Amino acid sequence: MKVLMLLSVLSTATAAWTAEYFTSSVPLPTERFKILFLLPTALKSHVWVAAPLMVDLARRGHEVHMFCDSSYHFKIPNVTCINHGVRLSAPEDVDTFDIVRNPLSLLKTITDAAANDAEKMFNSDITMKIFERRGEYDLIVIDHLGLSIFYPFAHGTPFAIFSTSALLPCQSASLGNVPNPAFVSSALMEFKQPYGTFDRLKNIVLTFAQCYVYWAIPSQTEKLMSERFPSLPSLKEIERNASLHLLTTSLALDGPLALLPNQVPIAGLVLMPPQPLPKDILDFMSGNTSVIYIGLGVSYIRNDSIPRDKKDILLSVSKKLPYKVIMNVHGQASSRSGNVLLTGNARQQDILAHPNVKLFISHCGLAGVYETVYHGVPVIALPAAPEHGAMAGKLVLAGAAIQLSWLTLTEEILRDAVMEIMTNPSFGEKMAFVSRVFRDQEETALDRAVFWTEYAARFQGAPHLKSPARHLSWIEVLSLDFILLALVLCYCAFNVFIKTIRVLKAKCLRNKNEKEKVT
Ligand SMILES: *[C@@H]1O[C@H](CO)[C@@H](O)[C@H](O)[C@H]1NC(C)=O
Ligand SMILES: *[C@@H]1O[C@H](CO)[C@@H](O)[C@H](O)[C@H]1NC(C)=O
Ligand SMILES: *[C@@H]1O[C@H](CO)[C@@H](O)[C@H](O)[C@H]1NC(C)=O
Ligand SMILES: *[C@@H]1O[C@H](CO)[C@@H](O)[C@H](O)[C@H]1NC(C)=O
Repeated sequence: MKVLMLLSVLSTATAAWTAEYFTSSVPLPTERFKILFLLPTALKSHVWVAAPLMVDLARRGHEVHMFCDSSYHFKIPNVTCINHGVRLSAPEDVDTFDIVRNPLSLLKTITDAAANDAEKMFNSDITMKIFERRGEYDLIVIDHLGLSIFYPFAHGTPFAIFSTSALLPCQSASLGNVPNPAFVSSALMEFKQPYGTFDRLKNIVLTFAQCYVYWAIPSQTEKLMSERFPSLPSLKEIERNASLHLLTTSLALDGPLALLPNQVPIAGLVLMPPQPLPKDILDFMSGNTSVIYIGLGVSYIRNDSIPRDKKDILLSVSKKLPYKVIMNVHGQASSRSGNVLLTGNARQQDILAHPNVKLFISHCGLAGVYETVYHGVPVIALPAAPEHGAMAGKLVLAGAAIQLSWLTLTEEILRDAVMEIMTNPSFGEKMAFVSRVFRDQEETALDRAVFWTEYAARFQGAPHLKSPARHLSWIEVLSLDFILLALVLCYCAFNVFIKTIRVLKAKCLRNKNEKEKVT
């Protein structure tokens, strides 16, 4: 039963990955490249967001390969799936809501999972064969979440990082763009711009915390890898060599963020033209009643991970609302009762595109956030992981969302938030503005992703694109060493000055005393 449901979800997803929807307008290339995608396949949402790029690269005649997990088999048109035969850690293995209750446990969960997966991966003959032949690829594209497992592949091969997260200060610094914590978010918590003194201090502390986490996660993997491949440089060194960083940021939500030419914002890559909705969903939505859409993602929050009491709150509030509600929870059976339609595999983008949808209750995964931004639907955020919280924070600051917490969620809190957004037009207006900014772009995210991926392959990793600052430490980039030297010199000069004054004063006094004695 479970397997069947999983298959049905995957088939709707696969059906969506066709060149018909994901065709960039970049002129066709004259050279054909061999490109390998290394994605954490157990996290469906991470494959999902990279799929449009793979589809279009394959359509353009490149030979595109990807590693596939043995538990899921992704069928992406004209992309060769290399099954490494290993089952990697999946969201099903962890209690998502345990992480909601104790976010720090996520650190240990990810660290252990990465080390575990790395060990299993490199014990696979298929992985090792590809590893030894990695030089045959013109470019390797690595999901940054899987970086610690896949980084040996990136050594000495041109590679791109594909990030499903916003700009992480420490990762950006690796590539030579050290974000200034006085005004660039730590990616852990958002503050109103311009930061007040206390917020600025908090953001500096959080930026250091982000860096600690960023390097703590691969530390265990690194130890394993250095035993297995003693001649490999450290993960940090390898990451500095990235030719390209595709990352999920946008002017609409991140503001005017300073990026290097090889840091390419691709937020909204998953967007595609709306497709007709299934008849039962379309019939349910038609009429004059506003619709609220509850969508909790495709992998992280599932029917069997969401606590019963939390789901009951969502359901019982929904039943009492004067609106229609569609609740899409992965793995949940479809049914309809009164004004509530339950479903397990609805196509979120098409629902959000429907003009009757006035509110999206979301965990704020990146793909979902940009889908709702595109369609201008305001949000009630129920984040389940730190990166969701950061996205929710951006929407709240834009005035387009209300953020709630799973931990303190009650029927009353949820109902008040729903009624606030449904009756106060400000949320919809603010989201409409964010949406306009997001849509008004010179080229699509797919155009940018395709152009720069081919560019990196065309120039064998494009060394001319890499910032020289990537070789410098933060201390050197911010010239802290010279500032310190200047302070020390000032201090010395000041001391010399004070001493001189004292000596002169003493001399004066002596002279005066002597004069007095003489008279
Ligand atoms: C992609 O695959 C389809 C069949 O799945 C085929 O008809 C089409 O020609 C292929 N396109 C390219 C560019 O290889
Ligand atoms: C960085 O890239 C260059 C050129 O591809 C390569 O020679 C060098 O070994 C790489 N360094 C690391 C640490 O991977
Ligand atoms: C919807 O509203 C319009 C105008 O407000 C009205 O003409 C129409 O009859 C309504 N339709 C339904 C199904 O209530
Ligand atoms: C969803 O989870 C609840 C318990 O939280 C369970 O009672 C229900 O049967 C599940 N539904 C499906 C379709 O698995």
